[in-house]
Amino acid sequence: MRRMICLVCSLAVLVAGPAAWSGEYLDGIEVPADATYVGSEDCLACHEEVGEFYAHSPHLPELGLSVPGRADIFGCEACHGPGSLHVDEGGDGWIMGLDIMRALDDVSRANMCTQCHLSLDLQYADGPHAGTEVSCADCHADQVHFGGQARPANEYRNRSEFCLQCHTAVSAAFRLPFRHRVLEGDIGCADCHDHHGGNDRTTWEGANATCLSCHNQMAGPFVFEHGGTTGEQCTSCHLPHGSHNDKLLTQDGNGLCLQCHYEVVNGDPSFDFGGVPHNGLLQGEARCYDCHREIHGSNVSPSFRDQ
Ligand code: HEC
Ligand code: HEC
Ligand code: HEC
Ligand code: HEC
Ligand code: HEC
Ligand code: HEC
Ligand code: HEC
Ligand code: HEC
Ligand code: HEC
Ligand code: HEC
Repeated sequence: MRRMICLVCSLAVLVAGPAAWSGEYLDGIEVPADATYVGSEDCLACHEEVGEFYAHSPHLPELGLSVPGRADIFGCEACHGPGSLHVDEGGDGWIMGLDIMRALDDVSRANMCTQCHLSLDLQYADGPHAGTEVSCADCHADQVHFGGQARPANEYRNRSEFCLQCHTAVSAAFRLPFRHRVLEGDIGCADCHDHHGGNDRTTWEGANATCLSCHNQMAGPFVFEHGGTTGEQCTSCHLPHGSHNDKLLTQDGNGLCLQCHYEVVNGDPSFDFGGVPHNGLLQGEARCYDCHREIHGSNVSPSFRDQ
């Protein structure tokens, strides 16, 4: 019989109606049906240190920042769920505590913030950090009392150094002889990446547009477009961060062009590009772009020569 009662009470927990709590963020969390929202005042009386953390923050509980559409859900309870049982029992009753919080998956951890920061919701899901172990709080340790290991952006003079504290592997590229001057502060990670979302990094759609926003002399339109630039990414010839090769080229020498202009005639590599014999032209370590100089496109020459 005791077992029966327990079964009934855990059922009650599972089917607690949505009226008791907000929306998506708490979906899937077993909130006791009789727990209600009581506001942050009581919490601060017992959890002074958390209140102190927020004292100079936009998340100050006294501001009563509520979950949009739910004026009754604000402050601590926006994240910790309805606290009436916990308060009534002097800190013993149900609250979303460490066990539940630490078991949240990456989506719920983002929802915890985007339930209020609505504009970042969809944007973040497309971003480079969605689905990684890095959540909003890891980068915003100065704004939330459970922030992760990373030092927040406002502790760095150069915003890019904030990113590099985790992305140590890419920092080497910015020390190569040819590079975008990120460490020097001339341009920043954010000029090309949106850490909150936007640029789809898996296909890097829009990368050309990003490059062209600064290098607009390559944008054309040209009378003679180079199929190797229009249809392809700037990154098929340039490394975005830094390179051992001048002009950030992915490779030195003619391999750069031959990756696409490799022709085989009768089983042998051919130097008859587009039917034009090049054996003679390529003597003396001549490079393709010594002659085909207008490689991003030309208004005068269909073979991108400047003469
Ligand atoms: C009467 C004092 C009291 C009040 C009021 C109170 N708490 Fe607590 N709370 C405690 C005590 C005691 C603990 C357990 C000891 C600890 O971990 O600090 C605790 C623990 C917690 C925990 C961690 C629980 C866990 O299992 O990890 C959270 C989260 C929490 N409280 C949030 C709140 C929130 C939110 C409110 C307001 C709705 C609140 N508390 C109001 C006393 C209180
Ligand atoms: C933006 C969401 C959010 C808000 C707002 C929030 N918390 Fe938390 N809180 C968390 C998370 C997440 C954890 C778990 C951290 C961890 O995994 O170590 C936590 C942990 C805690 C703990 C247990 C660990 C500790 O630091 O002692 C207490 C107590 C607590 N919160 C109280 C509060 C109180 C009181 C408020 C309001 C003044 C509040 N929280 C506001 C998300 C929040
Ligand atoms: C209860 C609603 C609510 C929750 C939950 C919430 N925020 Fe906020 N947050 C706000 C409001 C309102 C502001 C002030 C207006 C603004 O900047 O959007 C703010 C401001 C901020 C700021 C801007 C600070 C500045 O200097 O401009 C950051 C960063 C931030 N929140 C991060 C977070 C993170 C990270 C989480 C989750 C761990 C979170 N917030 C959870 C409502 C919320
Ligand atoms: C990889 C690190 C990183 C992650 C993850 C991250 N942010 Fe940010 N966020 C930043 C940086 C850097 C800024 C700019 C900070 C500044 O201006 O001081 C910022 C700015 C903000 C701001 C204020 C300005 C604005 O753009 O509205 C808010 C609010 C904010 N973030 C909320 C969030 C929320 C919510 C999440 C999770 C959905 C999140 N952030 C995830 C790094 C991050
Ligand atoms: C708290 C550590 C941390 C911080 C701070 C951080 N990142 Fe990340 N970032 C990661 C992790 C972890 C991943 C996923 C694993 C990976 O691909 O490196 C990631 C992924 C990325 C990716 C996608 C990489 C890929 O291979 O697709 C980009 C781009 C990126 N971050 C840019 C930034 C920028 C820009 C900033 C600064 C605003 C920043 N990150 C700050 C930890 C961090
Ligand atoms: C000039 C534009 C630009 C700047 C500035 C830039 N990136 Fe990138 N980044 C890219 C492009 C484009 C890619 C994709 C490369 C590819 O797919 O071949 C990329 C790739 C990445 C990756 C994926 C891993 C890799 O090496 O391919 C990470 C992580 C990253 N960037 C982080 C950063 C960080 C952190 C900063 C600032 C310190 C930064 N980037 C500055 C354009 C840039
Ligand atoms: C925010 C503006 C900005 C963006 C975005 C940007 N660049 Fe640059 N780029 C610069 C600046 C500034 C320089 C340095 C120019 C100089 O020193 O004369 C530079 C230098 C270069 C150079 C070397 C030029 C030379 O004369 O040595 C190449 C190649 C280049 N960028 C390609 C790219 C590619 C490819 C992308 C996209 C992945 C890109 N850039 C995105 C600003 C930008
Ligand atoms: C990413 C692939 C790619 C790379 C790399 C590339 N090209 Fe091209 N190139 C093309 C395509 C595609 C066309 C158009 C071919 C067509 O219309 O038959 C083209 C056309 C040309 C043409 C005009 C000839 C014609 O048949 O229309 C010349 C000249 C040329 N490329 C030279 C170069 C040189 C020099 C380099 C190295 C700096 C280079 N290409 C690198 C893809 C590439
Ligand atoms: C087919 C290969 C290829 C592609 C694709 C390509 N580039 Fe280049 N780019 C080159 C070569 C080769 C040079 C060096 C020419 C030289 O040194 O004379 C160069 C030089 C540059 C320079 C330096 C120009 C200068 O006057 O010093 C910039 C900036 C640049 N490219 C940007 C871009 C951008 C932006 C894109 C994408 C829209 C792009 N490139 C696509 C091959 C390419
Ligand atoms: C010494 C100068 C020179 C060098 C080096 C050179 N070319 Fe050419 N290329 C020419 C000339 C001249 C033509 C004939 C078309 C013209 O007059 O513009 C030509 C024609 C072409 C064409 C056919 C253009 C068309 O309109 O059909 C392609 C493709 C081409 N070259 C690719 C390359 C590649 C790839 C390399 C490097 C492996 C290279 N070229 C190196 C001078 C050169």
